[in-house]
Amino acid sequence: MKKTDIVDLSWDDFDEMRDPRVDTNGFDAVVDRAVSRRGFLGGALAFGSGAAVMGTGLFSSTTAAKADGHMKFAFKPIDIATDDLIHVPTGYESNVLVRWGDALWSDAKDAFTHENGVAVEMSDKVFGENTDGMELFEVDGKQLITVNSEYVNPKVNLPAEAEGMPRTADEVQLLKNLQGVTVMEIAPAAQGFAVVVDSKYNRRITHETEMLIAGPLAGSDLVKTNADPEGKTVKGTMNNCGSGRTLWDTYLTCEENFNGYFGATSEHEATAGEVRYGIGGEGRYAYEKFDPRYDLSQEPNEPNRHGFVTEINPADPTSTPIKRSALGRFKHENAEMVHAADGRVVVYMGDDERGEYLYKYVSTNTWAMGTSPEGILDDGTLYAAKFNDDLTGEWLALTPETTGMSMAEILCFTRMAASAVGATTMDRPEWVASNPLKVEAYCALTNNKNRGVKPNAGGDDTSVDAVNPRETNNYGQIVRWTPDDESHAADTFAWDLYVMAGNPDVYDNAYAGSDNVNAGNMFNSPDGMAFSSDGMLWIQTDGDYSNEGEFEGMGNNQMLVGDPETGEIARFMTVPYGAEVTGLCWSADKKTGFVGVQHPAGTWPDMGEGNKPRSSVVAFWRTDGATIG
Ligand code: FEO
Ligand code: CA
Ligand code: CA
Ligand code: CA
Repeated sequence: MKKTDIVDLSWDDFDEMRDPRVDTNGFDAVVDRAVSRRGFLGGALAFGSGAAVMGTGLFSSTTAAKADGHMKFAFKPIDIATDDLIHVPTGYESNVLVRWGDALWSDAKDAFTHENGVAVEMSDKVFGENTDGMELFEVDGKQLITVNSEYVNPKVNLPAEAEGMPRTADEVQLLKNLQGVTVMEIAPAAQGFAVVVDSKYNRRITHETEMLIAGPLAGSDLVKTNADPEGKTVKGTMNNCGSGRTLWDTYLTCEENFNGYFGATSEHEATAGEVRYGIGGEGRYAYEKFDPRYDLSQEPNEPNRHGFVTEINPADPTSTPIKRSALGRFKHENAEMVHAADGRVVVYMGDDERGEYLYKYVSTNTWAMGTSPEGILDDGTLYAAKFNDDLTGEWLALTPETTGMSMAEILCFTRMAASAVGATTMDRPEWVASNPLKVEAYCALTNNKNRGVKPNAGGDDTSVDAVNPRETNNYGQIVRWTPDDESHAADTFAWDLYVMAGNPDVYDNAYAGSDNVNAGNMFNSPDGMAFSSDGMLWIQTDGDYSNEGEFEGMGNNQMLVGDPETGEIARFMTVPYGAEVTGLCWSADKKTGFVGVQHPAGTWPDMGEGNKPRSSVVAFWRTDGATIG
């Protein structure tokens, strides 16, 4: 992947690089050489059992989408792009809603300059960087958008630091303030929407905001620290990746690569739990040198207090966010909440790491509109998915009986609990999306270079199987499942692959992708996903944008729309070079959509020599004013 000077590593690339896992680096280098473009194109790579699995009915897409053929979509699919702009189909327009450094309160209107980035003293009064998951809520006739800022790019934020590493407490404070979650009121404007500056609803939630830990892990010895001897209060939600919304209209923010914020200032021997979660070594932003909370040698339990789904009430800017420990601790991508047929509440969740698992939570009690959700996300059962090669699957309960672990251990070291029950190691589960018109759900399995190459961090086997059918999987696939008994609470399901991404111009084997992939719609690394109310699946990519070699013809990252019935997939949007497209939500009238543009590489959106790229939320709409969501 080409990187310009200004673009730092994506967090995921960084995490992979720093990860202190056993037998990684040397072996990785050998494998990377083995699958270098030349070797790969030359057919030197074995395909594992993937090739054998092809054509056995895994794919239910019966209609191959033709690049120039008829499609059901309400737009003409667009071509790939390799430039620094956003492209949408004819008949649509887009405009930036808010950029990294834009003021949420009027006293911060001059906080950002291209020369210096954001001024530290105003850094908790502006929109954060590297936007990701988001949701829109209607409160008292206002539209509030809640947006994650997953991480910061230290090189653009700290222009004084050539290495991008903070060297002062102020610099650390700046980075802490520009991550987390933003709640802001937005209103229709001449071109799309605009932020309502100084709205009473505007709020920044950062790495320093006070919050509670709820559920069975609260009060456990595993989460007690010097600052919190009770194990019930914690500061900050971090690496806020994907999102979710509750049935009672609160926001769920998902803590993904929390491990990278912690480091040790003196000798610290990693525990098995730390190794499984990639905790150890040096923190990415040197927090531990300025704040003992992030120093493993002083506060070894602090990382146990992160890696959760955190609930935020956007309607009340004074409300305390709550970490829902019952939903488990792992690298949470998003949280897709659905209502089971019997009234119980189900939350589907991916753990985005190579060879980790897909989970679901089922509440013990039922919930109905108009009743209190008290306890619904604190008392329930966590399950990990097992995908059988015969296209059936089961949810394996994570309990003291099935795992041999205490409830607190299950919720703190959830990955180890899933390993104990023999769940299926997956190709990096990213977002889960449920179809509003049908009892079914989809998960983007973004890619997994380690599939069939080496075990996960817990030593679990990652050989190819029917649901992860390609060795060294550089393209990714989307799995979907239909719960038995038409209930998301059911223990069993049937599954298939909705799409296997690939490149039919380069390959004529499993790496060409499934039959709904063609030269006109190809993509790699599906990541964000959400349904619109008409039952169409919007698919966002976070992949290789080099447009070279095995990725040639795919261009910049993109957003596509998939038809669950026919399998057809059409390209709707391309984002600037270097960026990934993240998060999707809709205005109250469903006439405007919002997506995030994370880590652009050029100077988008303030195009011009010497300008910094600014991660932004973008609005898009149809020029004829029709609904699109
Ligand atoms: Fe933050 Fe797995 O994406
Ligand atoms: Ca990302
Ligand atoms: Ca993602
Ligand atoms: Ca990703």
